[in-house]
Amino acid sequence: MPNPTQKFDLPTEVISNELIAENHYLLRCSCPEVAARALPGQFIHVLISQGSGLLLRRPFTVYTIDDDQITMLYQLIGEGTNVLSGLKFGDSIRVLGPLGNTFDFSVTPNPAIIVGGGAGIASLMLLATALRDADVHTLALVGSMNQARLLSVKDLQAIGVDTHIATDDGSVGHHGFVTELLTHLLQTHDLQNPVIYACGPDGMLRTVTKIALDSGIPTQLAMENRMGCALGVCLGCVCKVQLSEGGFEYQRVCTEGPVFNAEDIIW
Ligand SMILES: Cc1cc2nc3c(=O)[nH]c(=O)nc-3n(C[C@H](O)[C@H](O)[C@H](O)COP(=O)(O)OP(=O)(O)OC[C@H]3O[C@@H](n4cnc5c(N)ncnc54)[C@H](O)[C@@H]3O)c2cc1C
Ligand code: FES
Repeated sequence: MPNPTQKFDLPTEVISNELIAENHYLLRCSCPEVAARALPGQFIHVLISQGSGLLLRRPFTVYTIDDDQITMLYQLIGEGTNVLSGLKFGDSIRVLGPLGNTFDFSVTPNPAIIVGGGAGIASLMLLATALRDADVHTLALVGSMNQARLLSVKDLQAIGVDTHIATDDGSVGHHGFVTELLTHLLQTHDLQNPVIYACGPDGMLRTVTKIALDSGIPTQLAMENRMGCALGVCLGCVCKVQLSEGGFEYQRVCTEGPVFNAEDIIW
């Protein structure tokens, strides 16, 4: 049995790196040590060294695990992801992980409601797979700017998740924000013991938090703050968290997170 808390920092080679939607890529690499241990919500810190001159690593959630291989689904944002998108079969990267805490579904949700905005859905795919394996009824609400940028719908449907789409421009699915789908779902269904799991842009997470607080539905958020070390040392990734005994403290997204209870985050 692998030690679930053990971390690795290993070189690996890219197996494939494909454009899967406008501005978004899926990178696959062989990483048996991470593949054997990564849990839903956990991430890897990737050094994109090859010829790039980039010194800082970039964090990405493990999207899927297939035997010894892991994938990451990433959006082109800036220099790092731009260099990453140019990598081809056989190019090398260095992977540190698995890092961070995990989503909790020890109290069985009924249903689990996954809410992903943009590339945020990448942080929820491993969770969706684990929920499927645990026979938890799961609904996914997936939002994107437009149809060309829509992510993960086929992957979610392939594992039997009932998936609903919202696009900002109405090119497919509901015309509007994915949080409107969430509100509609909660208003029109008498759900027994729902739990919401969300990842996406800050604006979406704030709205999800408001819905969670108004409805009293337990909600977990995967935060994607910018990171430096990802090892709890530099304090570059902190977010403000409400303490149960009153007051607040700054907690590190890389070690105390990335998953937090929505009610605890102070925006
Ligand atoms: C735990 C965790 C998991 C993540 N998982 C994924 C994932 O699975 N897929 C994915 O596409 N992305 C994910 N991200 C975000 C990803 O790490 C950043 O998009 C990436 O590091 C950007 O690198 P870059 O060099 O291309 O951009 P940079 O050149 O570093 O930045 C370009 C611009 O984007 C802004 N920016 C960069 N990163 C962030 C951020 N995290 N939040 C807000 N603004 C930012 C910068 O301020 C800058 O203006 C994750 C982040 C965290 C913390
Ligand atoms: S990134 Fe350095 S403490 Fe979190």
